[in-house]
This record gives sequence, structure tokens and C-alpha cells, in this order.
Amino acid sequence: MTHRIPLLIDTDPGVDDAWALLMAFASPAHEVLGLTIAAGNVGLEYTVRNALKLCEIAGVDVPVFPGCASPLVYPAEDAAYVHGRDGFGDVGFLPPTSRAESERAALAILRLSRERPGLLLVCLGPLTNLALALRLDPTLPERIGRLVIMGGAVTGQGNTSVSAEFNIAFDPEAAAIVFSGFPQFDLVDWEAVLRHGLPHDEVAQWLDRTAPKAAFYKAISRRTREWSEDRRGTHWHSADGLAMAAALDPEGVEAWSQHAVEVETGGRFARGATIVDWADRSGRSAQARILGRFNPERFRHWLKAALA
Ligand code: BDR
Ligand code: CA
Repeated sequence: MTHRIPLLIDTDPGVDDAWALLMAFASPAHEVLGLTIAAGNVGLEYTVRNALKLCEIAGVDVPVFPGCASPLVYPAEDAAYVHGRDGFGDVGFLPPTSRAESERAALAILRLSRERPGLLLVCLGPLTNLALALRLDPTLPERIGRLVIMGGAVTGQGNTSVSAEFNIAFDPEAAAIVFSGFPQFDLVDWEAVLRHGLPHDEVAQWLDRTAPKAAFYKAISRRTREWSEDRRGTHWHSADGLAMAAALDPEGVEAWSQHAVEVETGGRFARGATIVDWADRSGRSAQARILGRFNPERFRHWLKAALA
């Protein structure tokens, strides 16, 4: 077999994460080493359960490592109002038959980085687990080939507060640790996601199939899609899907820009905001490569392949 790229995913499933995970499982060029699980969209008990269930539906044998049940410092509100109380649309699916690993997420990240140096790490949720791993071992970035983060709102147009995006706002201290500890990473922010919306009608057609993955995703995403149509209009926004597409298929990226990015951890109005040095005036190292545009046809290809 040809060499596959080792891929580790930190995630808080979540309807949005689910599609991104299916994309990764469907990629012939990648070997998914494991899922490290964060709290975020809903509580850890649910995000772990959802990860196990999704692996079962996808027919993959991928270890699931539970992470932190709360942000590093301050409690934060989840996004159950978007994803359902159980994070998967409250459709009442049967519990998964498999179990999570006993090893905790931060330790699994460190171990796998030693066993598979150069791995691709994709973070689709709050950065709590990665921040902990980095605090335990600051040499971790040396063993990560590429880090892709879904998070932030690079000109301050957030989705959870006026200026902040959910993954960063849920645990700003963790994001600050990661953004200052990694000398280089790729950032797929919420505003990029808004530029890559997909018509709800088109998405509904893709989901209208009998294939088990499509049927499952159609069921768990129904309420979220209705909420999205009601709140955000005609287009569906697959935040984690876009980050995963950029991770799996870097050649599909049509524009990047490289700048220093900081996370606001204080602030009366802007806690969790990502402050980008667009004019490169701070003298800080430009550690973030920010996604500008991903090829829309390739994005569709990856999303559809995930459901087949
Ligand atoms: C991010 O927040 C979560 O609700 C989604 O899963 C995605 O990772 C988008 O802001
Ligand atoms: Ca997510």
C-alpha cells in the first residue's frame, strides 16, 4: 500500500464536526490515527459518545481519547442550541457499542506525535487538549508536520459574540497557549467559512440518499440545518468541513495570507477575539497562514465523497 499521511483529529462532535470526520475517514491518502475529544459544542460525555457513534456508522476502527471536560480556566457555555442537547440533533440513536480509550487526549497527542513524527493534526473544536499537551511538552510542535485549526474571526466578525468565534471563545486561554506555542499553523476562520457557503437545497439533495452515512447525517443535522436556514439564510456553512478540506487537500487552497495572530483573553467586549496583525506592524512572528479561498468544486467533491 502507498504511504498514507498520518492524521490525528481533535474534535468536539457536534453536527458540524461529524461531516468533517466523515471526510477524513473517506480520504484514501490519509490514515486516521485517532480522535482526541474536547468539550465544546456539548459536554464531554456527549462528544465522546458521538465520536464513537460516528466511527460505528462509518465502519472505521479508530481509537477515541476523551479529553478535558471543561475549559482550562473559566467555565463556558456550549452550543447545544445549534447542535441539539446531545450534540447530534436529539434523534435518539442507539448508544454506540464500542468504548473510549482510557488514555486521556493530551497524553495521546504527545504519544502519537512521538510514534508518528510529522503527523497532520487538525483541530475542529476548542483548543483545551492541545494546550494541555503543549504545556506538558513544549517540544510538541517539532513533531507536528502540519497543524490546521478551525477557529477565530480574523476581522472581528464573530459567531458567538460580536467579535469572537465559538472554538476560540469557549477556551481563550487554551487558544492563547496554542497560538503562542506553535511557530506555524494554518487557520481556517469563521469569516472564511461564510465565504464558502453552500445552498441549503443542494446540501439537502446530497443528503437525500439511502447510503447509511448520508441517512445518518441527514437525521442528525436536520434541526441544525433548519436553525441555520432560519438564522443565516439560504446557505449552509460547514466550518469544520472547510478546515478538513484545506487539511486533506492543500492544493485546493487558492489563497493564503501569513500574519501574526494573537488571542484576546481579557477585554470587556472582545474576550476570545483573534487579533490579526494585517499590516505586519507588531514585529511579532507571522505564525498563522490564514485561509483566503478554497476551490469551491473541490470543496463539494470532498463533502460528497464523505457521504458515499
Ligand atoms: C465552530 O464552532 C462549533 O460550533 C463548530 O463545530 C465549529 O467547530 C464554528 O465556529
Ligand atoms: Ca467543532
